[in-house]
Amino acid sequence: MYHKESSDLKKIIQGIPKAELHLHIEGSFEPELLFKIANRNNITLDYDSIESLKKAYKFNNLQEFLDIYYAGAEVLLYEQDFFDLTWAYLNKVHSQNVVHVEVFFDPQTHTDRGVGFNVVINGIYKALEKAKKELNISYKLIMSYLRHLSEEAAFKTLESSLPFKDWIDGVGLDSSEKGNPPSKFSRVFKASANQGYKLVAHAGEEGPVEYIWEALDLLKVIRIDHGNRCLDDEALVQRLLKQNIPLTLCPLSNVALKVIQKMEDHPIAKMLHKGILATIHSDDPAYFGGYMNENYYELAIALNLNKDQLMQLSINAFKASWLSPEAKEKHIYQIKNYFHSSNL
Ligand code: ADE
Ligand code: ZN
Repeated sequence: MYHKESSDLKKIIQGIPKAELHLHIEGSFEPELLFKIANRNNITLDYDSIESLKKAYKFNNLQEFLDIYYAGAEVLLYEQDFFDLTWAYLNKVHSQNVVHVEVFFDPQTHTDRGVGFNVVINGIYKALEKAKKELNISYKLIMSYLRHLSEEAAFKTLESSLPFKDWIDGVGLDSSEKGNPPSKFSRVFKASANQGYKLVAHAGEEGPVEYIWEALDLLKVIRIDHGNRCLDDEALVQRLLKQNIPLTLCPLSNVALKVIQKMEDHPIAKMLHKGILATIHSDDPAYFGGYMNENYYELAIALNLNKDQLMQLSINAFKASWLSPEAKEKHIYQIKNYFHSSNL
């Protein structure tokens, strides 16, 4: 239906009011800003130019990416750094008509280097609040535990978060999936729920379907991040349908990390066909070649998605969000109006 470099398709996608539900703020760190912050913090990078850093962004798997992503995050030291990072992301997605974001941050990546939890969250929070007022972007904030570290370390992070509980909506689980099953974090997820945090977890990105089952049964998450592998198991598909569990998929990430060989292999069309509440997002846009619009565009071209499927995907993101029922209804009404307008 659409052809490569279809400007009509780009225009349609630009106009959709979008929600981003799977975004690691540290993964939005563009090389230009990374160099700028490194310079002002007197940090010497392993790369002598922005171009040579960008050349390193070639990954064969999740771990190769994570090694570079954690190294990049090391230049973030002060509240202003976290503010600038978050503000740059919010301005970028504002230009793409993203109107709601649910943002992950990885406190342990910073606290393990001696940066205070308060420094990290103050910078992020102030940028989110500014965007709410000045850009009309609503937001939720999700604190992720790093699964390659121990459950005890996650408990310490939970403890550090408590003074800021009112700013944090949920907890997630990210980092190296293989060998770090959700079951490793059952107790800290239970304790997080007791503090009133909503629960999500990355599962079935590189790991097996068993990890998706564990995230549902042991962690009791209400949303799965990625979940690509769920189609391997029909009983799991039925479970996702029964509980209406959303999957936040990240097409450009999946190609960049070789979770799939090529975009044409992306499982999302099959998921939509089965009625799964699948949504698309950007994961780590500075590293994977695009933000929300580029994810929609590359996916639509590769899978030949029609307007109904694009509308479904954009509605699903609001359904899967943590907005109030009234706010969801308002956004979904606007999306339907947009797609049914005569000039589309
Ligand atoms: N942290 C940042 N991006 C991630 C991803 N795609 N999977 C797991 N952990 C991550
Ligand atoms: Zn992710």
